[in-house]
Amino acid sequence: MENTDAYNSAPIGVFDSGFGGLTVAREIAKALPGESIIYLGDSARCPYGPRDLTEVDGFVQQICAWLVSQGVKMIVIACNTATAAGLVHAQQTFSVPIIGVVEPGARAAVHATRNRRVGVIATKGTIESGAYAHAIRNIDAGITVFSTATPRFVEIAERGIRMAEGPVEDYTSLASKVYVRPAFQEIAKEYLEPLRRCGIDTLVLGCTHYPLLKALIGAVVGREVTLISSAKEAARDVRAILGRKGALAPGDAVPTRRFCTTGSNLEEFASFGGRVFRSPLEGVEHIELPRCDDALKDLQPV
Ligand code: DGL
Repeated sequence: MENTDAYNSAPIGVFDSGFGGLTVAREIAKALPGESIIYLGDSARCPYGPRDLTEVDGFVQQICAWLVSQGVKMIVIACNTATAAGLVHAQQTFSVPIIGVVEPGARAAVHATRNRRVGVIATKGTIESGAYAHAIRNIDAGITVFSTATPRFVEIAERGIRMAEGPVEDYTSLASKVYVRPAFQEIAKEYLEPLRRCGIDTLVLGCTHYPLLKALIGAVVGREVTLISSAKEAARDVRAILGRKGALAPGDAVPTRRFCTTGSNLEEFASFGGRVFRSPLEGVEHIELPRCDDALKDLQPV
């Protein structure tokens, strides 16, 4: 049914381990306001970062199978850890186009660096996979990549969102929408000082939770370091891929937005997620994902 109005009006599936991928969903919604979106936050199993990549690959298969069963025309893995663990396998399994966030982030970093010294911060899983270093050096083998796992930033972002109900003066930055305790700033310094001393001029925020901490991270690394998040670049890729396939939503399509979570606290997901998405999440749904084998058995081979 490719290239019929019904196919082109189908939603884009976007997922992450929690709220972080909403930073990517937001950019897709901004760049492509006519497109419908189904977002899934796998909050019940967040965080992905410390898990074995094989386990995360299984989650990616299961979630993509669910999104395909919901009729999506494309999938964006809006989680770096899940991209590193499962993008290739997912592309081999499913026939809809699937992109991750590592390649777009790597490309943006290569375009931004002037001294060809690029830092990458991400979860343990993403750093240990070497996905960013590989993707960056694949585009420009002359770039030196300095990578550091900053696993506690996920916890800081998630906890910061939970605390951000306080008075305005408690916020490190209104733009960040995240409360940052002084103790967190010490953690950030510990993680980021060594990178700063390496003389990087570009730093990839290689986890979709990290743009929520932009103010904190920017304050430690200094203004001269360009912070890269893959969200905008990933949204550009979505537009380019759907455009090339003639699969952009028709001009008169009325876009729908579904927000789903595997977690049980729907109110919390709606209120914190709405802050990340920067507009209210209406009618958040709880989803029980089918077992992976069950979800995969009805698929047509690629
Ligand atoms: N947002 C995920 C990423 O981009 C990581 C968060 C987690 O550890 O679950 O890697």
